[in-house]
Amino acid sequence: MNTPAHFQVLGICGSLRQKSYNMAALRAAGELMPPGLKLRITGIGELPIYNFDVQEKGFPAAATKLRDEILAADALLFASPEYNWSVGAPLKNAIDWMSRFQPQPFNNKPAAVFSCTTGVVGGSRGQYHLRPILSQLGVHWLVKPEVFIGNSASKFTDGKLTDETTRKFLSDQMVALEDWIKRVKRLVA
Ligand SMILES: Cc1cc2nc3c(=O)[nH]c(=O)nc-3n(C[C@H](O)[C@H](O)[C@H](O)COP(=O)(O)O)c2cc1C
Repeated sequence: MNTPAHFQVLGICGSLRQKSYNMAALRAAGELMPPGLKLRITGIGELPIYNFDVQEKGFPAAATKLRDEILAADALLFASPEYNWSVGAPLKNAIDWMSRFQPQPFNNKPAAVFSCTTGVVGGSRGQYHLRPILSQLGVHWLVKPEVFIGNSASKFTDGKLTDETTRKFLSDQMVALEDWIKRVKRLVA
């Protein structure tokens, strides 16, 4: 009997809000993953606002911890809100911190992204800003299927993703992510 390979996926949510739809969707993605993937969700809320003066005195513990988690992961899964048609400040801040490490932890990581917004567009503009930021840091994006969860307020109940169509979109994306991780690992080996 074949034991499925377990790829560790690090979940990073761009919203710090306690009742965040993105965080709820990230948890749902973890439940919907195929057996070969395992999700662990990290936090970015402890990171101070990036400042080179702070970096010069030594990386904050929260930055070093996130760097280590990214390095240890086989892949990354971003759940990102869209703020003012772009990437939210907490996630951009985390990326800016990570970009200062050598080796830079995003380099050659396979990754997928989805977004939840209360608006109808579902965060497409924010995702399309996030992708090039992390591409230039060496992330290898899963391009399709794209997942944009608009009208979020109608798709979650008591912190759970209850909309069946959205659950299927996420589940399909997780299946594609597993295949993508295998392909990227072969390419960068
Ligand atoms: C500062 C700010 C900017 C926002 N800008 C957008 C936007 O550009 N497009 C959009 O669809 N929703 C926007 N929203 C609404 C978010 O989609 C909504 O707050 C969503 O619930 C955030 O995700 P979360 O539930 O994971 O925190 C914005 C919200 C905030 C707080």
